[in-house]
Amino acid sequence: MDIGLYHWLKALHIIAVVAWMAGLLYLPRLFVYHVNATAGSEASEMLKVMERRLMRFIMLPASIATWVFGLGLLHYFSLAEEPWLHSKLGLVLVLTGFHHFCARWRKDFARDANRHTAKFFRIMNEVPTLLMVGIVLLVVLKPF
Ligand code: HEM
Repeated sequence: MDIGLYHWLKALHIIAVVAWMAGLLYLPRLFVYHVNATAGSEASEMLKVMERRLMRFIMLPASIATWVFGLGLLHYFSLAEEPWLHSKLGLVLVLTGFHHFCARWRKDFARDANRHTAKFFRIMNEVPTLLMVGIVLLVVLKPF
């Protein structure tokens, strides 16, 4: 086991996770404000630019890096003997699904075709928080 590589993979994994989570927690908040901005207004056009840059230049590369370094770390574990890892990967798949919903909602706003309310996005804003808590507790505590 190359312990040096393992630590580098874990450090890069955690850095990518922090960037991805920052975007997943911030983008739904921008959607809450965007619902109240009139289509075509200066505020709405500014929010479109912020949402596009957040998704393309932070969330997308960070999600790919989280997966690449996470899969690299998997080589140091035997999936069959680590039930906590199954549960963690299950929650990570849900988090990745949430990322794709954010991408679809962003495209709706870009076309001035959003149909959801500010309340909907406030509730959605809690989803990545709850998933992150579950994922981090599973990987650090390895409870089963
Ligand atoms: C994308 C797929 C992912 C895979 C395949 C994956 C896999 C792994 C593996 C195998 C480890 C090493 C565990 C250890 O050394 O004890 C690890 C560490 C870690 N992962 Fe992930 N992970 C993924 C996504 C995530 C996400 C989305 C988060 C947070 C929201 C996360 C948070 C962490 C943390 C905090 C550690 C360090 C744990 C420690 O040092 O005790 N991972 N990951």
